[in-house]
Amino acid sequence: MSDQQRPGVEQDGFVFTPRKNGQAQSVSDELAAWMSTGWADTERRDLEPIEQAEHTARRRAALSAAFPGERLVVPAGQLLTRSNDTEYPFRAATDYAYLTGDTSDGGCLVLAPRADGGHDAVLYLKPRSNRDNGEFWLGGYGELWTGRRNSLDEAADLLGVATADVRTLPGALRADSVATRIVRGHDAELDAIVDELRADADDEARAKSAKLDEDLGVTLADHRLVKDEWEVAQLQLAVDATVRGFNDVVTALPQAKDTSERYIEGTFFLRARVEGNDVGYGTIAASGPNATTLHWTRNDGPVRDGELLLLDAGVETTTLYTADVTRTMPVSGTFTDLQRKVYDLVYAAQEAGIAAVAPGRPFTDFHEASQRVLAEGLIEWGLLEGPVDRVLELGLQRRYTLHGTGHMLGLDVHDCAVSRQEVHLYGDLKPGMVLTVEPGLYFQPDDLTVPEEYRGVGVRIEDDVLVTEDGRRVMSQGLPRASADVEAWLAERMPR
Ligand code: GLY
Ligand code: MN
Ligand code: MN
Repeated sequence: MSDQQRPGVEQDGFVFTPRKNGQAQSVSDELAAWMSTGWADTERRDLEPIEQAEHTARRRAALSAAFPGERLVVPAGQLLTRSNDTEYPFRAATDYAYLTGDTSDGGCLVLAPRADGGHDAVLYLKPRSNRDNGEFWLGGYGELWTGRRNSLDEAADLLGVATADVRTLPGALRADSVATRIVRGHDAELDAIVDELRADADDEARAKSAKLDEDLGVTLADHRLVKDEWEVAQLQLAVDATVRGFNDVVTALPQAKDTSERYIEGTFFLRARVEGNDVGYGTIAASGPNATTLHWTRNDGPVRDGELLLLDAGVETTTLYTADVTRTMPVSGTFTDLQRKVYDLVYAAQEAGIAAVAPGRPFTDFHEASQRVLAEGLIEWGLLEGPVDRVLELGLQRRYTLHGTGHMLGLDVHDCAVSRQEVHLYGDLKPGMVLTVEPGLYFQPDDLTVPEEYRGVGVRIEDDVLVTEDGRRVMSQGLPRASADVEAWLAERMPR
């Protein structure tokens, strides 16, 4: 047996650990020697930077200006075990993707402070697998198992930032005691190293330092509130792909009737995957009373004529920008009178909400506009007792509306959640912000406060809206919204 491929012996940072009951428990000297030779040079030279590189450089500069003299650590995150030796699909941490354009696992961006107040950016990444020590084929994370990675030089060219081997990062962090902040919760080892660097601080100083990390995340969320041109284009790609997925679902409705909501979920996912994308959150395919459960992702119920199908789904691009769109449609192709009445009120509320999206308007305006329309309708139907101002003041309509009318959208479906309230929740809309407008009405199957005919009816209409210089643009206008247009859409696409 060769020294390099003997179980348990470390060689250049790689330890060969055969699976306990794996069929190959050792590697002969001859095979080890042979496997280390005979490989072509596949290094790609003179690569052009990705389109996003100029934007990530500007984003890093903005972050650098906010934290002069401090070291900033922004991890990508690690693979998470699903079971035994299988992992969940990896999704890079949002702030890391925003600042680097990279979506691979295990890396980390470090902004190291310079004397002049600026920072040097270094992106620590997994290098290519070593071909001498067997790691590339004997380690479960070697490239012959998981696929070729960019070399550090290739990544530097593509991403427009200096790169280094991530295995040197713990040492590099420990070697310098400069004040350090980390975006927490993505990489336990790096979190622990930053704690170590603060080990001689007293309790009070440590409590303060936790706040320092939190402020880094808050600042990044603040920076991400207004999307740059490139981000808006990515979001439009996500929305356009989502529109195609919704069209596919309508075409597949007859098969869903023969099976279950899973057919809807699968049809949407197929569209996302064949175009190289993913979904930005668990698809909600909710038929009949399941539509009254806001985040119904079990998707195991039947899809029946006479019911409404609520589909809330969004494609996430390879660059990790996601859409978030909902349509509610009659499975038979035609709304019943009651379904249409509920749908049309939600639609009117959405129209009022969309009209309230404009630069300079408070973020809360579109929510209030939608809620007022819904409350007025509920009073008119005799489900709530007026006057409307009292209903709204006490929030009584929320028994049936349940959730807020929308949220910021971007790399995260509920984007910039931790940003400062004065610039987000209580701030004004600015050109470049993207948000959802998604009023809904939900009458629970067991709600005795409404006549029986309402029970089990759930309607949400959700669109993605860009704040422009002079108003708004509905990015998801490729899908019909008004009840008559939804029926026409179904009539056109659904085979009968
Ligand atoms: N899809 C979750 C939401 O609409 O917020
Ligand atoms: Mn939403
Ligand atoms: Mn949604």
